[in-house]
Amino acid sequence: MARSSRGYRCRECGWTTVAYVGRCGECQQWNTLDQFDSAPRGPLARSSRPPALPGRALALADVPDEPGRRMATDIPELDRVLGGGLVPGSLVLVGGDPGIGKSTLMLQAAARLAEQGQVVAYVCGEESPRQVRMRASRLGVGAANITLIPESSLDAALAAAEGAGATVVIIDSIQSVYIEGLESRSGGPAQLAEAGARLVAFAKGNEICTIVTGHVTKGGEIAGPRLLEHLVDAVLYFEGAEGGALRVLRAVKNRFGATDEVGVFEMTGAGLQSVENPSSALLEAHDAEASGCAVTAVIEGSRPLAIEVQALSVPTNLASPRRIAAGLETSRLHLLLAVLARRGGINASGMDVVVSVSGGLRLRDPAADLAVIAALASAVSDRPLPRATAYLGEVALSGAIRPVQQAQRRLAELGRLGFTRALVPPSTPFVEGMTLIPVRTVRDALTRAES
Ligand code: TYD
Ligand code: MG
Repeated sequence: MARSSRGYRCRECGWTTVAYVGRCGECQQWNTLDQFDSAPRGPLARSSRPPALPGRALALADVPDEPGRRMATDIPELDRVLGGGLVPGSLVLVGGDPGIGKSTLMLQAAARLAEQGQVVAYVCGEESPRQVRMRASRLGVGAANITLIPESSLDAALAAAEGAGATVVIIDSIQSVYIEGLESRSGGPAQLAEAGARLVAFAKGNEICTIVTGHVTKGGEIAGPRLLEHLVDAVLYFEGAEGGALRVLRAVKNRFGATDEVGVFEMTGAGLQSVENPSSALLEAHDAEASGCAVTAVIEGSRPLAIEVQALSVPTNLASPRRIAAGLETSRLHLLLAVLARRGGINASGMDVVVSVSGGLRLRDPAADLAVIAALASAVSDRPLPRATAYLGEVALSGAIRPVQQAQRRLAELGRLGFTRALVPPSTPFVEGMTLIPVRTVRDALTRAES
């Protein structure tokens, strides 16, 4: 690949060009190009190489097999997402919206790890040591064994951490540290790529577990468009509904555990608490008397979670009515509305439609389709759905209800929460204590949902 020595790079998506243009050729945003120099001279040239790993060959069999070497953080939901705990020498990225609770979780984890004898260095690039101390007091966590490093130069911070004999380093946040001598704004793609490479070398080279936090950009991606994601061992992503107290931490990548595992927390006055019974918490606000509310169970990582889908529709004079989806892809909402109109005979074309998912959870599981359809139909007719009834099934464009994976586990979870009846795809095996109503099509489901 030919490398141009100078050029411009989009700070949103990483697209590069040799000549300056006002608008990014990839993401089409205006004024997002920064100049970069990809063949830097002097001290930088060194670090542009891939992270230095020991240049010797060794037999795989000679590498010690230490499956048990994990540091549990003792925060149950965090350990679950990590796959049992932190792996020494690993690099973990924790992403999420500003204010969602990344720093809070990091400080709580730091304190728990320190209690177990780990030496934790906390690089606080965003807050002053006093602010961190105040948060620690608020969280009621001990300050012993935690070294604060109020430093925004990454190299200086890492050197200080090493000097302090740290076994765990937390960098809060990646956007608040910078690489000296690199001509690019802090948090920009060039800075992030370089910081990522140095962090990998630091974590692997010193066997120090390193955690970095990162704010998401408005596009919903961890800033520096996935630049860090491929470098790090694990990417954990915080989700939550605006104004709500529930937080979902999801592993979108994990070299040492299952991906898509989720941990559920509640933000309280004393920090984040692991939620022991997430389904109950997610259904806490479920109101069976309101129209537009349907319950389903999704598989998140290794466990089923019961969730509520809420829909609201109101007549509008707008030529193109609003479609607002929180926790669901807008394209999926459009598709399901189209299926509902064409295959179910329920038309929302003259209405604004809003759909949201409990707890700010993002729906990825197509098994929730039928619940979205049921919620939409109920919202449009303004009639509540029958009590204690849940909905499971993927919806095809033809209107057919397709089978879902792990139906038994989902239904068992719903049964545990007091649901006694479920609309399910045909040939779903029987589950004790549940009346199953097999539905073949959307129209079928709408008829049966009424009764
Ligand atoms: P924070 O961890 O600073 O978010 P991030 O690092 O992701 O930007 O969380 C800040 C929010 O959490 C803030 O709105 C206050 C709230 N909070 C609590 O509700 N309880 C607490 O004990 C703490 C420390 C914060
Ligand atoms: Mg923070």
